[in-house]
Amino acid sequence: MPNESSKSNHQNPKIMEISFRQTREKEWKETENLTREAFWDVYKPGCDEHLVLHLIRKRNCYIEALDLVAVDGKIIIGHIICTKAKVVDSMNSEHPVLCAGPFSIMKEYQGKGHGARLMEYCIAKAKELGHDAMILFGNPDYYHRFGFRNAAEFGITTKEGLNFDPFMALGLLNASLSGITGKFYEDESFSVDGAELEDFEKQYPFKEKHVTSTQLKL
Ligand SMILES: CC(C)(COP(=O)(O)OP(=O)(O)OC[C@H]1O[C@@H](n2cnc3c(N)ncnc32)[C@H](O)[C@@H]1OP(=O)(O)O)[C@@H](O)C(=O)NCCC(=O)NCCS
Repeated sequence: MPNESSKSNHQNPKIMEISFRQTREKEWKETENLTREAFWDVYKPGCDEHLVLHLIRKRNCYIEALDLVAVDGKIIIGHIICTKAKVVDSMNSEHPVLCAGPFSIMKEYQGKGHGARLMEYCIAKAKELGHDAMILFGNPDYYHRFGFRNAAEFGITTKEGLNFDPFMALGLLNASLSGITGKFYEDESFSVDGAELEDFEKQYPFKEKHVTSTQLKL
């Protein structure tokens, strides 16, 4: 696990000292903006992840101790959050799990290993807090390095009963996730309403949305 304050492997001495800690409430807006900037046009024209993050912080799914930032001096360069979610088995028993994301690194700092170190920090914190499992939707090429596997390997499907490569799970205390099978339900904050997004966007400087050939599919 990276230390709360530890050196990154980046060569530029000006940004060598990246530290990791819990997000402060006064930094909520800044981290929502960071999320908007990082996700904009990456998966679709514009993005809604900054609104998701905003909604998470108002709901019971919010876990203050897993709302984390990476900081370079006074600049927040990365953010990740995990929320309370559940896997419901065939007997209707609910197993609490974590849902990871949104996860963002400021564009200028991407591709330098800071994201990986923030994710490792988050996983270590989640273990420390005694959580059993972390589930996310993301690019397998990236997340397999942290130990995430296709959720199908653990008998976990989406709430619709589906499995696909970007739907992944990681056992935190028990690597095989034994005893946790069923359908995964994330918090309702992830279902963003178009009108709500349009309204939320009004508090940000205008940004043009683009359709791009590199838009990633999750
Ligand atoms: C995804 C993200 C948080 C990773 O942070 P980062 O600091 O750039 O990542 P790292 O430097 O630790 O790792 C870089 C590696 O990840 C790969 N990578 C980065 N983003 C990726 C993505 N979305 N899909 C697949 N691979 C990705 C890079 O190609 C590089 O691969 P390599 O180590 O094999 O060369 C950051 O790129 C970001 O904010 N992206 C936009 C928002 C986003 O996609 N968030 C995650 C949604 S699931």
